[in-house]
Formats: sequence, C-alpha cells, structure tokens
Amino acid sequence: MGSRWLVTGGAGFIGSSVIRELVSGMRCDVVNVDKLTYAGNPDSLKAIASDSRYTFVHADICDAATVQEVFRRFGPDVVMHLAAESHVDRSIAGPAPFIETNIVGTYTLLEVARAYWKALWESDPRKAGGFRFHHVSTDEVYGDLQGAEDLFIETTPYAPSSPYSASKASSDHLVRAWQRTYGWPTVITNCSNNYGPYHFPEKLVPLMILNARAGKPLPVYGNGHQVRDWLYVEDHARALIKVATEGEVGETYNIGGHNEVTNLEVVERICELLEELAPDKPEGVKQYRDLITFVADRPGHDLRYAIDASKIERELGWVPSETFETGLRKTVQWYLDNGDWVGRVTSGAYREWVEKHYGEQAVDGAHHD
Ligand code: NAD
Ligand code: TYD
Repeated sequence: MGSRWLVTGGAGFIGSSVIRELVSGMRCDVVNVDKLTYAGNPDSLKAIASDSRYTFVHADICDAATVQEVFRRFGPDVVMHLAAESHVDRSIAGPAPFIETNIVGTYTLLEVARAYWKALWESDPRKAGGFRFHHVSTDEVYGDLQGAEDLFIETTPYAPSSPYSASKASSDHLVRAWQRTYGWPTVITNCSNNYGPYHFPEKLVPLMILNARAGKPLPVYGNGHQVRDWLYVEDHARALIKVATEGEVGETYNIGGHNEVTNLEVVERICELLEELAPDKPEGVKQYRDLITFVADRPGHDLRYAIDASKIERELGWVPSETFETGLRKTVQWYLDNGDWVGRVTSGAYREWVEKHYGEQAVDGAHHD
C-alpha cells in the first residue's frame, strides 16, 4: 500500500488527529481537503503544518471540479473521508447543510474518486489495485438500543433518529452501493462517541469543561440517563489508519471504547476531575457539580448506544489504549492548558481570519502554513 493520503475534513476534531499521526508518526504524504466550516480549525494542525509532507487545500467536497483537480495533482493511494456536518443539535435546528455535505458531498466525492480510479487502471494498474476509499461513519446510524445488554454489530439494521444520523446513514448506503455495483474498493467504519483534545466546544465533554471553568450552568438534557460509549480520539485515529491499510475491501468495522457511561456520570466525572486539577473555582461556585442543570430533552434523543468492537479486535488486532478514566483526565488537563486554542476557535476574530486567509484560495494556492 502506498503512502499518499487524501483526507477530507482533516481540520476537524478526528481528522486532525489522523493527520497528525500520518504526517509525524508515519511520515506519509497527506493532502487535506477541508471547507473550514466553524468546526474546521487549521490551528489544530499547527504541529505539522510546515512539514513538506503536508498540503492543505481549502475546498468544499461538493465542488467536483476542484476536488477532481486535487486528485489529478496529488494522485492519492488512499482516500479517508471524514468531512461532514457532525453536530446532532445543529442538524435538528437546520438540516440543510447536513443533506448537502453528508449526502451530496459524499456522492460528489465518490464520483470524482471513481473516475480517478478508473483512469488509474489504464495508467498504473498496480496502484489502482491497491487503491482504497475509507468512509468514516458513526454508530448513530443504528438508532438506539432498548435492552441494557444489547450491542451494535456490523449487521445491525439501520434506524437513524436525527437528521444528522439519517444523513450519515444515507452516505453509508451510497458507499456500499458503489462497492457492490462498481466493485469500488471501499471500507466503512462506524464509531462511537469520541472525546479528547481539539474537540469543538459545542459537544458534551468540552462544553462541560469550559462552562464549569467559566462558572456557567452545565446543561444536562432530560434526566441525563442516556448512555454513550466513549472512545479517546487518538485510539479512533489509530483504528481508522489500521482499517484503511489492513481492512478487507467491502467490509464494515465497528469501533468502540468499551466505556458505556450515562451523560450525567460523564458530567459528574468532569466535575470531580476539575475539583482535583483546577481547585481555584470561579467566584460564587462552591463545587463544580452545583452547576449541573437539567434542561429540556433533545427531540428524538437516542437512549443508548453501545458497540461490539470484537470484529476489528479479532481481525485487525486493534484495541483501545485509553480507558475512560485515563482519557478523560488527559482531556480535562488539555483544555485547562490550551485556553488559547479555545479562545481562537470560538472567537469572531478567528472566523474573520479564516475568511481573509483562506477565502480566495483555490487548488493553485495550496500551501503549507
Ligand atoms: P468535526 O465537525 O469536528 O469536523 C468536520 C470537518 O469537516 C471540519 O474540519 C469541517 O470544516 C469539514 N467540512 C464540513 N463540511 C465540509 C465540506 N462540505 N467540504 C469539506 N470539508 C467540510 O467532525 P468530527 O467529530 O471530526 O467527525 C469526523 C467524521 O467522523 C464525521 O464524518 C463524523 O460523522 C464521524 N464520526 C464522528 C464521531 C464523533 O464522536 N465526533 C463519532 C463517529 C464518527
Ligand atoms: P453530543 O456530544 O452532542 O454527541 P452525540 O449527540 O453525537 O452523541 O452529545 C452527547 C450526549 O450528551 C447526547 O446524549 C446529548 C447529551 N448532551 C447534553 O446532555 N447536554 C449538552 O449540552 C450536550 C451538547 C449534549
């Protein structure tokens, strides 16, 4: 397998972890195609941004002509597709960008990549034979589990509940259909909830850490008894690279952390860690946990997700290295140490800078900073 990777959505939470590992850990060449929505932050790739192996292209995956040009110039061996709108609450408030990026964008990327692959069979059959398209998806496509012992397996029927998960399910169906119809060399992964450094502070874990430090309420939806299976982001990144390089074409792999925790417990554990790691509380706050506030439930809220990850463990030898305890401690410490990153990604000034710096950039302007 060659080592030229085209990653979509690489300025996001999981994509940036994958790229840091590919460039600095594995010394691979990577081109990152990212639209830089509010969730995409080049700042998360600072550590490798000036490495000659890394190229950034500011582009929308729905823009077929630009994406085609990236394929032509870069000649990838592997495509890892992470670009997506990813926040359930935003999908409830406004589903349109989810349909556009997650469904139309995936379709556009599939067609551009397939044309590239077809042409490759003429010019370089060896490279074409090793080419892989890895579609990164979520366990939310399965809907929720009712029984306390039930687990999602790779053949669990799809039953998405939110506009986000329905759009991801649609994209999975497209990828699978392309595999069956066109012999398209794809692998799909469905992963549980990730947490860790560089997570945009709209999701549960970073939101709670930052709200607590600011002395703001910690909004728990409904009764907080919903269960998620939490995986440290760097464990996910390692699993993704393993599947892309060693997974069997046409197969799906579920990825999970064996860490089923209720939302309320997650928030309580964050509060306990903050008591230990940041005892200097905001004025008027006696204990961080006093900030926990129960608010209206999310519409269509899935009750429980839990992954059976035995296939990837058995067939590819991947196991997570962090427990929820060790991973959450690292995460809380990271947010305490990286107030600058948080300040930048959430500030209006940052958005203006992205607009100015990347606004006009096309493929020709691909650069390394
Ligand atoms: P994220 O929201 O942090 O990042 C998404 C990235 O995609 C951003 O950099 C954004 O700028 C980019 N992007 C969005 N629309 C684009 C477009 N039209 N063209 C090009 N780039 C675009 O998301 P994440 O949490 O890193 O998730 C990455 C992938 O993993 C998604 O496909 C998501 O469905 C999946 N996933 C996420 C989790 C999780 O817990 N976060 C779990 C399982 C699977
Ligand atoms: P989230 O981080 O948005 O991930 P997802 O919806 O993809 O699982 O939410 C994780 C869980 O936390 C989910 O059950 C909703 C809940 N939640 C809250 O209770 N309060 C919040 O403020 C947020 C953002 C989420």
